[in-house]
Amino acid sequence: MTDAKAQDRVLIFDTTLRDGEQSPGATMTLEEKLQIAQLLDEMGVDIIEAGFPIASEGDFEAVTRIAQIAQNAVICGLARANFKDIDRCWEAVRHAKQPRIHTFIGTSPLHRAIPNLDQDQMAERIHETVSHARDLCDNVQWSPMDATRTEHDYLCRVVEIAIKAGATTINIPDTVGYTAPRESAGLIRMLREKVPGADTITFATHCHNDLGMATANALAAVEAGARQIECTINGLGERAGNTALEEVVMAMKVRNDIMPYRTGIDTTRIMQASRLVATVSGFPVQFNKAIVGKNAFAHESGIHQDGMLKNAETFEIMRPEHVGLNATSLVMGKHSGRAALRSKLAELGYGVGDNQLNDVFVRFKELADRKKEVFDDDLIALMQDTDTHAANDRVQVKRLRVVCGTDGPQTAEMTLVIDGVEHEVTSIGDGPVDAVFKAVQSLVPNTAKLNLYQVHAVTEGTDAQATVSVRLEEGGKIVTGQSADTDTVVASARAYVNAINKLLVRRLKTAPEAASA
Ligand code: KIV
Ligand code: ZN
Repeated sequence: MTDAKAQDRVLIFDTTLRDGEQSPGATMTLEEKLQIAQLLDEMGVDIIEAGFPIASEGDFEAVTRIAQIAQNAVICGLARANFKDIDRCWEAVRHAKQPRIHTFIGTSPLHRAIPNLDQDQMAERIHETVSHARDLCDNVQWSPMDATRTEHDYLCRVVEIAIKAGATTINIPDTVGYTAPRESAGLIRMLREKVPGADTITFATHCHNDLGMATANALAAVEAGARQIECTINGLGERAGNTALEEVVMAMKVRNDIMPYRTGIDTTRIMQASRLVATVSGFPVQFNKAIVGKNAFAHESGIHQDGMLKNAETFEIMRPEHVGLNATSLVMGKHSGRAALRSKLAELGYGVGDNQLNDVFVRFKELADRKKEVFDDDLIALMQDTDTHAANDRVQVKRLRVVCGTDGPQTAEMTLVIDGVEHEVTSIGDGPVDAVFKAVQSLVPNTAKLNLYQVHAVTEGTDAQATVSVRLEEGGKIVTGQSADTDTVVASARAYVNAINKLLVRRLKTAPEAASA
């Protein structure tokens, strides 16, 4: 690689599995994390932040397993600024072909006050912990959390200490989404100019989206010399989320004339990653989201449609196929065969093996019997539903019959299979969904509070499938369940049971105090 080419290369650090998973309700199971990690690894993500190993046994196992399976990416784990966290992190990431330890501490006045360290004491802690991490691993990333609200002199001082102690990447987080593009660039420029040794390490940018500027701030930092962008699929993350991977990657690709940087991302896998993360996190993508929203390539106004038919460039700055969306939408129906289904799923970004194809084909036929035309969005909902409901779930819906109408009471008769044993119950409620939820509650007692119940029609028409999301909270743990069906009440029951299954998994996890970043 020539020097100029190396200079243009921007590393993509994906933290969907760590910072993304910290969004309330976005907890993922081990299997789901492995599936996402594998896709990230295949699509060319340079560094995968796989989790926070000290946070729980589950996180530790996930980081370990991801480290074992990754073929191309560097696998990184997060650790606070203490030896115990760092040792635990190393125990998990050391299995990777290319491991990295990422250690951090809050350096702004507000964050220094929490451990009650003065500037000198914190500087000493940084020196000790980064040196310790470097003794274990030769790839160490250090982050001054809340860097954008840290005094500039102190920021330069601690970055210099971390570099001297052996950090190979210095990440500058805008933890609370407070900065703006000019300031984001200015910080990187200042550090590169003032800090001795700055030319020997890689600067990273990590932006949150509280003011909606995360992508702009990350790209501004790159213009000032940062060469690693930290981001998540769909911008998943706490509060307003993080820089979205798809946005920064496509911005650099489409506007390469003014942002002449390269990434190693295969952009044709972007839609697949977006759909997978939306499914497993339970955070649906907003329709008008840049790049991956349902409407990102839809044209409705007459003028736009006319222009598109004459020349797509009139109203599109990138082609749908660049992000893995197929331009034509072949409608499937009950006469479509297995081969057509497989090829359609491949077009939509779902590679399925023979066994999975058989399962999906059965469900596709059931759907096609109920719906005249099965659109792309129906198949996506069906695939997401198949991903969501695993055969090893402890609780499964076997049968549901609901009586509803103007004359109450609305009644749900339900059979659930719990740990392999069938249980039946009849419940009444204030409406069919309430009756169903009460039936589930009586068979799987819980004190969870229902935080969200949301229904979306997948396509148009009265026979459309409904996607239902259910968010539950129990003892500070938040989980989201999802399901899709042409019968809204069935989808509601399965979404609720999906959330219950996630809650059962969460109950087994132990989280040490304040193990979040
Ligand atoms: O936002 C933040 O500051 C973080 C750090 C742990 C890097 O996520
Ligand atoms: Zn963050």
